Formats: sequence, structure tokens, C-alpha cells
Amino acid sequence: MGWFSLVLGMVLLFPLVVSVSGIGANWGTQATHPLPTGTVVRLLRENGFQKVKLFDADYGAMRSLGRSGIEVMVGIPNDMLASLAGSMKAAEKWVAKNVSSHISSNGVNIMYVAVGNEPFLETYNGSFLRTTFPALRNIQSALIKAGLGNKVKVTIPLNADVYESSTGLPSGGDFRTDIHELMLAIVKFLSDNGGPFTVNIYPFISLYIDPDFPVEYAFFDGNSSPLNDGGTIYSNMFDANHDTLVWALQKNGYGNLPIIVGEIGWPTDGDQNANMIYAKRFNQGFMSHISAGKGTPMRPGPIDAYLFSLIDEDAKSNAPGNFERHWGVFYFDGQPKYQLNLGTTNSGALVVAKSVHYLARKWCVMSPKASLDDPQVAPSVSYACGLADCTTLGYGTSCADLDARGNISYAFNSYYQKNDQLDSACKFPNLSMITKTDPSIGSCKFEIMIEPITDASDRRAVQLQNPVSLVVCVFLFLLTVL
Ligand SMILES: *[C@@H]1O[C@H](CO)[C@@H](O)[C@H](O)[C@H]1NC(C)=O
Ligand SMILES: *[C@@H]1O[C@H](CO)[C@@H](O)[C@H](O)[C@H]1NC(C)=O
Ligand SMILES: *[C@@H]1O[C@H](CO)[C@@H](O)[C@H](O)[C@H]1NC(C)=O
Ligand SMILES: *[C@@H]1O[C@H](CO)[C@@H](O)[C@H](O)[C@H]1NC(C)=O
Repeated sequence: MGWFSLVLGMVLLFPLVVSVSGIGANWGTQATHPLPTGTVVRLLRENGFQKVKLFDADYGAMRSLGRSGIEVMVGIPNDMLASLAGSMKAAEKWVAKNVSSHISSNGVNIMYVAVGNEPFLETYNGSFLRTTFPALRNIQSALIKAGLGNKVKVTIPLNADVYESSTGLPSGGDFRTDIHELMLAIVKFLSDNGGPFTVNIYPFISLYIDPDFPVEYAFFDGNSSPLNDGGTIYSNMFDANHDTLVWALQKNGYGNLPIIVGEIGWPTDGDQNANMIYAKRFNQGFMSHISAGKGTPMRPGPIDAYLFSLIDEDAKSNAPGNFERHWGVFYFDGQPKYQLNLGTTNSGALVVAKSVHYLARKWCVMSPKASLDDPQVAPSVSYACGLADCTTLGYGTSCADLDARGNISYAFNSYYQKNDQLDSACKFPNLSMITKTDPSIGSCKFEIMIEPITDASDRRAVQLQNPVSLVVCVFLFLLTVL
């Protein structure tokens, strides 16, 4: 083997070696102004994400992921579980349309189908207890029938409250009593079919719902008093929670079932503990924690994980809390929020999304002539906030320091931008006006939205990130010149 082929071999092999472990991202699409899917795929690639998890088989996202090499976990929303559970035909159709065709005609590297999303959350009152497992079985049969049984594995992303510990220690871990039998049936099925156990672990939520939760224990570099589990020391919640699952699996005879961390992350706004400092500390801490490949005390070795999430989604329900729209490591427009070293880029920082087209630099604010006592103020603000996004207002948020007029302006502007700067969206009766002076102040950003996607712009972005069309362009260019 010559020197050249040796170098070539190294160049070719190196990315392959890296792609064995690596970090994934959750890509949710509940946004009023989503980036074109091609832009997002380029963002994933340039940031070295090797895996992506989707919450449904979004056609545009799947199409853009074609031939990108990125491994895909494609989700089935909970509201489809009943029909897939009740009909083998429906499951076959789902697989044909949303898996087989994307693999065969589009080159999407689908590795997993995620059946449902946290279907056993207690807030769902058991609505999906009877349909999730039958849907899982039908999708698995449909995959086998489609000849994909070896390539594509099934799983169910579960919330961490499907298990608990009677002792408060990982070694006390077992599945929740009310769903114990169901969990064992699912775990056996996954094990029989080579599917992993997928779990979402959220120290932030623990801190959010329990004011007595020790903050430092949520982080990886914290100096909280450690937990001693029969001689095994736990100094962060992630390890302890993960190992509670390992114990639950082990106790029931499935100690070797692979585990995927389907979601992990920290939001940056909408709550006093949701801020840049904590988010960076948590996500960077997690990356460093897993980068050495040493795993957890009960599961040494690499951890397979997907960050939650890639980009903010401003159309998500804020029922879980005002933080819900702020989980991204990027803002909605693909701007990094803080420096995060994923270990995948030369700069050691996140790479910004390319070719993003913004609306004009103008904002809708409260007119200086309007009075705070105007009876139209309250109904106008609640109308704007109801339809747009005021989750960055309030105690401990990025816009907490606004005065009353600032608050009102923020609400008006959010509504105006969500409506693509329509003049009619800045007509709050005698209260609002359009300005070209950026009202942003300190940490509080008065956003300008990006241009809404047209089919054409999405196609353009897809073509731009496709290396083949680049080669064709260069070729055509050379033809013209010569
Ligand atoms: C494919 O997935 C999409 C998105 O989740 C869904 O709307 C559609 O109904 C699915 N197609 C079939 C044939 O089930
Ligand atoms: C769950 O049950 C409670 C109490 O019965 C009810 O208030 C709530 O709306 C239910 N939630 C769902 C998602 O069905
Ligand atoms: C601004 O709005 C938030 C959220 O509605 C509220 O909590 C806060 O008190 C308001 N601030 C002022 C100065 O009115
Ligand atoms: C706006 O202000 C004008 C003059 O102050 C008043 O006549 C009119 O009724 C107001 N309009 C609304 C919708 O409040």
C-alpha cells in the first residue's frame, strides 16, 4: 500500500471511527417559523451531529436527510398509536410510506422507529396504556414484512418515571408498580427483537417540580453531597437515575438490554432555573461526562444520547411550563445560544446556520403617546400573548427586567413578528406603532422572525447542501469558462 492510499485510507476511515459513538440531537418541528429542512440538515452536519431523532415522519425533514449519512430515529406520535395498534394494515402502510420508501428511493439512514413519545406519562391518565405495546408489535411485524427487520429496530421513548426506587438509591430500582407487568412485556419484546430501551432523563424537571431538590446534584461538576449506594458513589442525578433503570432491568432479567438516552438537556428561558449559565453548565458537563466513554457505575462504556434539543420551537404547548419553548442549543433561527463544545468541530464551538433570511429590521412597540391606564391595554396584551409568545416575560426570565411599557411592547412585537410583520398585526387600538429602532435591552431580545418557508426556498436549500449538485455546478461553470 502506497503512501497516498495510506493517507486516503486514514482520511476515509477517520470519520467512520468517529461515527460509531458520537452525539445525537432531537429535531422538533413545532415552530411558527421553521428553518428550511435543508438548512437544518446542513446545521446538523456542520456541527458534527451523527444522529437525529424526529417526533414524526415529517416529509420535508426526511427528504432532506436523504444521503446525508446521518442516522435517523423516526417517531410515531401518540395520537397514531390507537390506529396502529388496531390494524396491521395501518402499520404496514405507515412502514411503507414513512420508512421503506425513504430508505429505498431517498437514501435515508433510518436505524430506529420510536413508537409513541413518553406514552406512559402520568399526566396522560393512562390514555396510551392499552395501545402502545400492540402498536409496537404491529410496527415490528410490518418492518419484518418489509424486509427491514435487521436494519431498523423498534423502541419506545419513555419518561424516567416508568421506574422508581423504593429506597431512593439506584439499587432499589424497579418498574412502577401500576405498569410493572406491561413494562416487563415491553422489555422482553425489545430484547427479543434487538430493540433498545429509550429513556428521557431530565434533572431540570426534577428541580422545577421540587423546590427542595439540591441544585448542585443536577450538574456534573456540582459539589452536592454524594449518594452512597452500597459503596458505589453517585455525585450527579443523571448517573443515579440511569442506574436506577439499569437495576430495574437487571432485577427483571434484562441486565444487558441496550439503553439509549432519547432526550437530555436544559432550557434557557421561561423559568428562574432556565438560563444560559445553567444550560451551558449542564450540557457541557454532560458532553464531557460521556466523551471519555466511561459510562455510569452500573454501565461502563459509551453512552448513546440525543440532546434535547437542537432548535427552539415557539409553537409548543407551554402547559408543562414557560421553559418548554426554550430547550434548543440554537435559537429558532440557528444562532447558537452559548458556547458549547460537542467535541465535533474544529473551533470547539457551535457552528451557526448558513443562509438564513430574516424579515425587515422593524418592530411593533407600545406608542409613547399611549397610556398605561388605557382600558384596551389588558385585553390587547392578553390577545397578543395568547397567540404569540410571552414565555420570556416574568420572574427569572431573560426579559424579567422590562418595565410595564416594555412588557406590553414585547407582547405586541411577538404578535407582529409571528404574523410576518403584517401592518394589520400592529394595529392595537391607539396603543401600538412600528419602529426601526431595536427595542432589545440587555438579555431581552425583541426577535425578528425569518422569512416563512415556501416550497421553492426549501428545495433550494436542499439542493445547496447536496454535494452532487455542487459538483454539477462546478462542471457547468468550467464548461462555460472553457
Ligand atoms: C406517515 O407519517 C406522517 C407523519 O407522522 C403521518 O401524518 C402519515 O399519516 C403517515 N403515513 C401513513 C401511511 O401512515
Ligand atoms: C386526567 O385526569 C384529570 C382528573 O380526572 C383531569 O383533570 C385531566 O384533564 C385528565 N388529563 C387528560 C390528559 O386526560
Ligand atoms: C411583566 O409581565 C410579567 C408576565 O406577565 C409580569 O410577571 C411582570 O410583573 C410584568 N412587569 C411589569 C413591570 O409590569
Ligand atoms: C383612539 O383615540 C381617539 C382619540 O383619542 C378616540 O377618539 C378613539 O375612540 C380611540 N379609538 C379606540 C379604538 O380606542
